[in-house]
Amino acid sequence: MRVAFLPPLLLVLLAAGAGAQPADVNYDESRVPGFELPDPLALPDGRRVADSKEWFGKRRVEILRLYETWVYGRCPAPRVRLRATVLETERNALGGRAVRKQILIPFSSDPAGPRMHLLIYLPARAARPVPLFLGLNFTGNHAIHPDPGIRLAEVWVQDPKHKTWSKQTAPEKARGATASRWPLERILERGYGLATAYYGDIEPDFDGGIRYGVRPLFFRRGQTEPAEDEWGAIGAWAWGLSRALDYLETDRQVDARRVAVIGHSRLGKTALWAAAQDTRFAMAISNNSGEGGAAITRRRFGEQIHHLNARFPHWFCRNFRKFDRREDDLPVDAHMLLALIAPRPVYVASAEEDRWADPRGEFLALVHAAPVYRLLGRPTPELSEMPPVGQPVMDTLGYHIRSGKHDITEYDWEQYLNFADRHLKVSRR
Ligand code: GCU
Repeated sequence: MRVAFLPPLLLVLLAAGAGAQPADVNYDESRVPGFELPDPLALPDGRRVADSKEWFGKRRVEILRLYETWVYGRCPAPRVRLRATVLETERNALGGRAVRKQILIPFSSDPAGPRMHLLIYLPARAARPVPLFLGLNFTGNHAIHPDPGIRLAEVWVQDPKHKTWSKQTAPEKARGATASRWPLERILERGYGLATAYYGDIEPDFDGGIRYGVRPLFFRRGQTEPAEDEWGAIGAWAWGLSRALDYLETDRQVDARRVAVIGHSRLGKTALWAAAQDTRFAMAISNNSGEGGAAITRRRFGEQIHHLNARFPHWFCRNFRKFDRREDDLPVDAHMLLALIAPRPVYVASAEEDRWADPRGEFLALVHAAPVYRLLGRPTPELSEMPPVGQPVMDTLGYHIRSGKHDITEYDWEQYLNFADRHLKVSRR
């Protein structure tokens, strides 16, 4: 039975800003309305998908199209392979523990156009091509580690008074500012590489940022904005991850068939969408991705579709706005986003205090994606109860909820490394 639950919309939104949350948010489990999820294995004619052939040939194609049309928007295929320049290869980075590479990937021939700086660390003296984690960062490559060899990024900065945005070279003091989110030494020690790029290189993250990013490069003559079903910024960032993977395929020290795509929060949404579209990604990791990512949207707990569209109108395709306060009419839900990645391993992680991202909704998406994994012959744990805080469960699907706030921590990475050991450690060569 459905219950009347949220206060009238008069309460609308608090001013968007760091940490500000809309006043109409529901954090009361007893006010989560009943809902019915679309069945990922139901065919339009009412039959159920019989086997993997029908899944890949029919239902998966359909779900992918629904996600493109109603949620993230269509990403264009790249017209040509981009020409990358290796700016640096340092074989003696981090006191001899790593090889560091910095790669410039321009997205167009216009020198003033958008371009991505890919930073790669590989364990030193690896005997074979290494598996690697690839993820975008929020603050520029120099912020992920204090290593003075990392080029200072040009980052998008907002003038607090005039609210205007400009691109500025980051200050020296910003080196390593977000190092707690990237335990690089640990990743290397466990035998993995790490590749990262600043998401603002692909498209800056503000309403109107589109003109500085990659999306206009694909406009048809006379087009001034994406069509209703064309990509938003999340689509652009996901596309950028695939272009990074194109480059990694050319690096003989990397095993591009063993790349895990990872992201935190909005970049967790991005990592899932990248892996859903691009089957070259061997694994996907969603860290606190929440609404519009791994969380079941029909649950109406924490952030909802109208919150996303009001505060971040540039993230999704314009069609997604049609589902503001109409979650039940969306033809897909987050379990189907995860199912698009099947049979590849997916790990979803929540944080106890991150109620905005709806930890239970993130967990339930995995539970309801599991039938697709089973159809494809992949073992999945029988997940019915949410595991307790600090007790990860992992098989082909992985989940944990840790104590603490919305963030990506060393604890999260430890689980991702363990999960990667299960699935990426053995070379498929
Ligand atoms: C906001 C937004 C979330 C998002 C998060 C982030 O809180 O509402 O959807 O995941 O920002 O990216 O940090």
